Amino acid sequence: MVAAAYTPLLDDAEKLSVADLRALQFDRLRWSIGHAFDKCAPYRALCESAGVGPADLTALEDLAKFPMTGKAELRAAYPFGFFACDMDQVARIHASSGTTGQPTVVGYTRADLDTWATVVARSIRAAGGRPGMKVHVAYGYGLFTGGLGAHYGAEALGCPVIPMSGGQTEKQVQLILDFEPEIIMVTPSYMLSILDEFRRRGLDPRATALKIGIFGAEPWTDAMRAEIEDAFAIDAVDIYGLSEVIGPGIANECVETKDGLTLWEDHFFPEIIDPETGAPLPDGTPGELVLTSLTKQAMPVIRYRTRDITCLLPGTARTMRRLARVAGRSDDMLIIRGVNVFPSQIEEILLAVPGLAPHYQLEVSRPDRLDQLHVVVEADPAASDRAAAAETLAARVKTLIGVTVTVEVVDPESVPRSLGKAVRLKDLRG
Ligand code: DLL
Repeated sequence: MVAAAYTPLLDDAEKLSVADLRALQFDRLRWSIGHAFDKCAPYRALCESAGVGPADLTALEDLAKFPMTGKAELRAAYPFGFFACDMDQVARIHASSGTTGQPTVVGYTRADLDTWATVVARSIRAAGGRPGMKVHVAYGYGLFTGGLGAHYGAEALGCPVIPMSGGQTEKQVQLILDFEPEIIMVTPSYMLSILDEFRRRGLDPRATALKIGIFGAEPWTDAMRAEIEDAFAIDAVDIYGLSEVIGPGIANECVETKDGLTLWEDHFFPEIIDPETGAPLPDGTPGELVLTSLTKQAMPVIRYRTRDITCLLPGTARTMRRLARVAGRSDDMLIIRGVNVFPSQIEEILLAVPGLAPHYQLEVSRPDRLDQLHVVVEADPAASDRAAAAETLAARVKTLIGVTVTVEVVDPESVPRSLGKAVRLKDLRG
C-alpha cells in the first residue's frame, strides 16, 4: 500500500501556521461578505432584515452575527437569483437534484473553476495521487458536480483523466484492466458494484494497477473502507463536498493518517451549530456543518446550512482542521423510539457480522404510530447460516445503538445496486 511510503507534498496554503491561516481567512471573509452584500440581492435583503452589514465584521467570531442560508433561500431565488455577477462572467452552471423538489443551481466564474480545480487537485494529492498517475473518474458527469469536479482537479494536478462517468459497469471493469489507472474516484457504493463485476467475471480485483480510491458523495464508514481496501488492495480515502458550496473537494482525507477529512480552510470557513437551535457549538462537539465560501465569485455562500452532521477536529496531517466522517444528513436521521440513528451506524455494525455482504437497505415504517426499522441485507454468497447472521446483527444493533430492529437476510444480488449515490433508506411511513 502507498500509505507507508508516503511523503506529503504541500502547497503554500497547506503550510500556513494556524495564526496565518486565521488572518488569511479574516481578510477573505471580509471580502466575501462584502461581495455577497453588494452583489447578491437576496443575501443583502437577509442581512438588512437581521440588521447587520459588512461593517459589523471586525473579527472571525463576528460571522455568527450574520444570517444563515440554506436550500430554501436558494430555491426561492431559482434559478439564478443568488448569482453575484453578470451572466457574461459565468463560465459554468451545475445543479443539485436532491431527491425532491426544485434543483438548486450554482454558477462558477473562470476563477471559481480554477479554485475548484485547485482544491480537488489538493485533495487528490492528499490521497497520495501524483502527476502522471491515471485517474479513472466514475462519478457521474453532467449537472452533478462529481464527474466534472473530479475531472478538472485531476487535470490540474497533471494526471491523465479517464472520463468514464457512472454506469456501464462491465465497461468500467474492462477499462480498469486495459488502461491501468492508479486512482479511481467514485461513490463507495458504486465501487461495490464494480467489485461484484470483477467477481462475476472471475477476475482478481487485487491484481489491478489501482493504488488509491477517493470515495465520497454519500456517507460510508471505516468498516466499508476496510472492506474495499482489502478487496482491491488499495488505500481508500474520503472526499466531501456539496454542490451549493462548490462540489467535491471541500475536504479530503490525508492518506498518511486516514483520520477524518482535512477541510481546505483557505477557501471554506466551517462552523458547527446545534441543528435545532442554530446556536454555534465548540470544536469537538457534533452538530450541523455550516460553510462560508471565502473566495467564490459567481455564487458566494455565507453561513450555508449543509444539514450534514459531523464535528470539527484539530489538524493532524495538516494545520487545517478536520471534519469527522459525515455520519449523514439531519434529514436522513431516524428517530427510533427516541434514539437517533443514521443508516451509516447500521452499516458499521453490519459489515462486522460474518455471513453478511455489504449490500443493504433500511426500511422505516410506522405500524403503530411508532417508527420501526427493518434491515434488508444480502447474505454473503459463501454464508451457510443466514438465521444466525440475522440474529447476530439484531443483537449487536440493540447493544451498540440501543434500538430494536428486524433483520431479513436476502439472496446475493437482490438488493438494488447503485450507479451513483446509494439509496440506503426506504421510507414506508406514507
Ligand atoms: O455529492 C459532491 C461530491 C461529489 C462530493 C463527489 C464528493 C464526491 P451533492 O450532490 O450536492 O454534491 O450532495 C452533497 O452529499 O451535503 C452530503 O450529505 C453528501 N456527501 C457528500 N460527500 C460526502 C461524504 C456532492 N464524503 C451531499 N460523506 C452532502 C458523507 C457526503 N456524505
